[in-house]
Amino acid sequence: MTCNPFHNQRPDFKKLYIFGAGGSGREVAWLAEQSWGSEVEIEFLVDIPDHPRQDVNGHVIKLISEVTPDGSARIVIAIGDPSARRRIAALCAATGLQEAVVVHPRAEISDSVELDVGTVICAGVILTTNIRVGRHVHINVGCTVSHDGIIGDFATLSPGVHVSGHVHIGQGAFIGTGANLINGSADAPLVIGSDAVIAAGACVTKSVEQGALVAGVPAIRKR
Ligand SMILES: CC(C)(COP(=O)(O)OP(=O)(O)OC[C@H]1O[C@@H](n2cnc3c(N)ncnc32)[C@H](O)[C@@H]1OP(=O)(O)O)[C@@H](O)C(=O)NCCC(=O)NCCS
Repeated sequence: MTCNPFHNQRPDFKKLYIFGAGGSGREVAWLAEQSWGSEVEIEFLVDIPDHPRQDVNGHVIKLISEVTPDGSARIVIAIGDPSARRRIAALCAATGLQEAVVVHPRAEISDSVELDVGTVICAGVILTTNIRVGRHVHINVGCTVSHDGIIGDFATLSPGVHVSGHVHIGQGAFIGTGANLINGSADAPLVIGSDAVIAAGACVTKSVEQGALVAGVPAIRKR
């Protein structure tokens, strides 16, 4: 049984543009198909004029400059790198495209979780209680986020990341595959600074400074 307030919500749009036609784009397309079936038409967008633009898994690819925004379409950005996603979000906003929230039907999310626009929540994710997820956050397959978490705008959680309670992840932080972040407390949350990078497989036991790269078990600063 699915525990997910987004499950069975009918979309108030007819078309979903997915910016990025690579592996991440195909995964988000699958996610959207699982969520909305044929109710929503999917098209990929790119911003590279000489992109070959063959259909991908049955969906056409267009240049973003060819799109005329209207109320019946939404966009989601399928790019893992936080800074690239931030740049494309600004481009989409300038084009007048409104963002969707895309949540896989087999994510488990409590009613006390807030998801902001542009967010992608993949299959197998569990978000427990009192968690705030910012704009254009990506939470990849099989991640868990425990109570009282904050995930800042444009942060990326790669596959299989586990975030314990009272952890605050800053804007634009990148958390590599399989990383574990141990818990903070109500008085002293564990803080991942904005634009920090956590290497794949790291175990983060203390707060990480803004822009730092940490790796290993326990994680230590590499630069
Ligand atoms: C952390 C990461 C981004 C660093 O990449 P980079 O900027 O090219 O940095 P380098 O490879 O030069 O590594 C910097 C240091 O960190 C170490 N390091 C990098 N990744 C590491 C890891 N996963 N575990 C342990 N140490 C790691 C390197 O050995 C190096 O250490 P040194 O300075 O002591 O020699 C990358 O290794 C990584 O883990 N990426 C995550 C990929 C991922 O999860 N993708 C998800 C796709 S869906």
